[in-house]
Amino acid sequence: MIRYVALKAHVDGAPQESDFLFEEMPRPALEDGQFLAENIYVSVDPGMRSRLSPGASYAPPIAPGGLIDGFTIGRVVASKNLAFAEGQWVTMGGGWATHSLFGGRGFAIPLPDSDIPKSLYLGILGIPGMTSYFGLKRVGRFEEGDHVLVTSAAGPVGATAGQLAKRWGAASVVGIAGGPDKCAWLTEEAGFDAAIDYKAENDLSAAIAAALPKGIDILFDNVGNAMIERCLPLMRRGGRIVISGQVADYNVPLAQRDGVFNTGEFIGKRLLMQGLVVFDDMMQFPEAQLEMGGLIANGNLIYKEEIFEGLEALPGAFCGLFKGENFGRRLVKIGD
Ligand SMILES: NC(=O)c1ccc[n+]([C@@H]2O[C@H](COP(=O)([O-])OP(=O)(O)OC[C@H]3O[C@@H](n4cnc5c(N)ncnc54)[C@H](OP(=O)(O)O)[C@@H]3O)[C@@H](O)[C@H]2O)c1
Repeated sequence: MIRYVALKAHVDGAPQESDFLFEEMPRPALEDGQFLAENIYVSVDPGMRSRLSPGASYAPPIAPGGLIDGFTIGRVVASKNLAFAEGQWVTMGGGWATHSLFGGRGFAIPLPDSDIPKSLYLGILGIPGMTSYFGLKRVGRFEEGDHVLVTSAAGPVGATAGQLAKRWGAASVVGIAGGPDKCAWLTEEAGFDAAIDYKAENDLSAAIAAALPKGIDILFDNVGNAMIERCLPLMRRGGRIVISGQVADYNVPLAQRDGVFNTGEFIGKRLLMQGLVVFDDMMQFPEAQLEMGGLIANGNLIYKEEIFEGLEALPGAFCGLFKGENFGRRLVKIGD
């Protein structure tokens, strides 16, 4: 049997563990082009929250009773697909399930048989890391000497984006994160020039202005509208705003979200604001992974992982993302 986690009913506000159900179904018979993978690691991702309620998102909402989406790393256990032999390691969007069926189309990438820990392909060498790399390089049009501000900076996307900016020659990189431990890690271990604890700051705008006295060339934003509104007056001419994610807004209905009003700043400063869906860059993932793998091997790019055990841990691990509980990439190990 395949065990999986399903959505109980559409979610209102912050997700709770009670919003999820554990279900079972028989293993399917394979058709040509399909393979079945046994999942070893499953990820929890804040962006999945937007799919738990009806409404606009770049991917359709999950229906009540439907499998919860998530990235997976597993091994092919049965295959009628010539590109994926039995025993092959694969990363795919397999969902919160012990086994995943690949239908022949969509996101499924064979993993190299190398010494690199497989879990990294769900973290710094996976979707979060690729979001950092292409968010900064392609969308942010990163240039040496840029002054960069990263929000949710201790998360897997933010921490990697800030470190890449430093390695690529940013003039300064400042991170915003919640709590002294995350801020200390950013400056003492990840090499950020400064970190701001937004939970302890009475005047966050003043704190950002003090940390980036020359202004911001790139705002790499993982948080949402209020942060963009706050940073617009601090942007430099020709600045770029990368909309990577909106973790502070995902649980808030659209009509109740903060607005972005300071749009006059776009004219005078010739600002650009652009979002990304990282799959658009999928063909270039190998080149990014090669570069980042080299930086990791030399100790010039670090990461944190939090690995939970068992399918039952998935809902709690996910809900904790919206309480700031994660310190690094959260994965759940569900197989050997
Ligand atoms: N565009 C794409 O293709 C793409 C792909 C992957 C991910 N993303 C997005 O990238 C962003 C970062 O992803 P990630 O995996 O690295 O997750 P993450 O930043 O670790 O997200 C969880 C963290 O968000 C912060 N947070 C939670 N609620 C908050 C709130 N109300 N206000 C401010 N911060 C809050 C917390 O950190 P603190 O303790 O610091 O508050 C928490 O630990 C997400 O928004 C995700 O959707 C985008």
